[in-house]
Amino acid sequence: MSSASSTSPLADFIVVANRLPVDLEEAEDGTQRWRHSPGGLVSALEPFLRARRGAWVGWPGVADVDVEPFEAADKYLHPVSLSSAEFRDYYEGFSNATLWPLYHDVVAPPVFDRSWWESYVRVNHRFAESCAEVAAEGATVWIQDYQLQLVPAMLRDLRPDLRIGFFLHIPFPPVELFMQLPWRTEIVRGLLGADLVGFHRPGGAQNFLWLARRLAGFEPSRGSVGVRNRPGVVQVGDRPVRVGAFPISIDATGFDALARSRETQARAKEIRAELGNPRRIMLGVDRLDYTKGIDVRLHAFGELLKEGRLDAEDTVMIQLATPSRERVEHYKKMREEIEREVGRINGQFSRVGRPAVHYMHSSVERTELAAFYCAADVMVVTPVRDGMNLVCKEYAACRHDLGGALVLSEFAGAAAELTSAFLVNPHDLDGVKNSLVAALNVDPTEGRRRMRALRRQVLTHDVDRWARSFLEALGTQLTP
Ligand code: ADP
Ligand code: G6P
Repeated sequence: MSSASSTSPLADFIVVANRLPVDLEEAEDGTQRWRHSPGGLVSALEPFLRARRGAWVGWPGVADVDVEPFEAADKYLHPVSLSSAEFRDYYEGFSNATLWPLYHDVVAPPVFDRSWWESYVRVNHRFAESCAEVAAEGATVWIQDYQLQLVPAMLRDLRPDLRIGFFLHIPFPPVELFMQLPWRTEIVRGLLGADLVGFHRPGGAQNFLWLARRLAGFEPSRGSVGVRNRPGVVQVGDRPVRVGAFPISIDATGFDALARSRETQARAKEIRAELGNPRRIMLGVDRLDYTKGIDVRLHAFGELLKEGRLDAEDTVMIQLATPSRERVEHYKKMREEIEREVGRINGQFSRVGRPAVHYMHSSVERTELAAFYCAADVMVVTPVRDGMNLVCKEYAACRHDLGGALVLSEFAGAAAELTSAFLVNPHDLDGVKNSLVAALNVDPTEGRRRMRALRRQVLTHDVDRWARSFLEALGTQLTP
């Protein structure tokens, strides 16, 4: 077999994402170790790929390091390096201070900076070159997310023999918002380099079809796009580009099994005991991101305590928050605000050794996370905008006991599937408060009915089904 490097053969199936599934962590004493990368993209794709040999092209999570390709958990990992200037301009800048807020309904104002755009183009080109080097003749390349929207067309130029898929893990915005982007035509043309462009929701696909005509002048099909079926088509010369909706999911049976284990059940009991066995526990689990509405649930909880509708003697809130994009301005500001609010609530309602809000600015292991899900009476997921949100699906997968209740924002992609949750509008604080109280006091029979319906949806629509439906639409058969 020909070889892309001394360690890895050319691959027939390649995932390309900004991040590798593992992050290089450098301690102050210079030692290095690999850690699981943060975020839903890796949580979803990693278990799907675990059983399949393939390659993953991505950045190792630290600027200014060159890492040779290596093999881990039956995958060939191909690191792409970023300089510190590219980390600042391509990653923190264009990806996370321009595209991220723009695509999340401008919940923070996007910054448009020409030098960030230039860096985005350069880095996308490097990713395309890296894929072109590792792909075998006729291979399938699956490009992921908003950081790499130019890669499909760049890769097609380099390697017309490849089958190219692209999936966007975040919302695709309404056309009026997308039209603000100075480089809107370049992005649309970049995506049209793929054979299949996938979104979570039909609305995103429909918006993209409209833009393909408006900005690139290609005639799209007219019918409405379905979920996992009836993709739209844009004819780009002699090449049809399919555009579809594929709602992502989780390793549902993995979470279910983890939650059923004796260790997890014992740890869940221990967590409750460590909290002083409160009657009710509310839980939030998020990357510390301003789209997640962590402030919304804190305000709601604070007001309910103040009004005496909840009592900190018997009801506590836990917020697990993974550190994220810490040097980007909006993230710094939001962290300060959230920590101030936690301090304010605790200052007013805690007793010695009994905080009302337990806030942890850290990431926990999957086993520990499952125990938190099992211990929580109400899971609170209140993003102002979220492409899908996997946390709510993980919670349902962990509740084989049919206990617990889910409060879920209507503005998370998952709300279209998890209709038996207590659905809330995160902008309506009174509505959120009422739903929290309703979820905390749900009649057990009604609670079990809702949880059964949530679990049925999550267990029958797992990440494997998501990946298979996308790859089938792309015309790729994977083994096994
Ligand atoms: P996003 O991709 O925007 O971060 P998702 O809800 O889709 O949001 O996915 C987040 C993923 O990160 C989930 O798999 C969740 O379990 C994991 N996660 C979030 N916060 C933590 C935390 N504090 N510790 C461990 N895992 C976390
Ligand atoms: C979301 C995005 C991913 C991203 C993840 C973590 O899930 O869709 O593309 O990898 O957040 O964010 P980070 O900036 O740390 O990679």
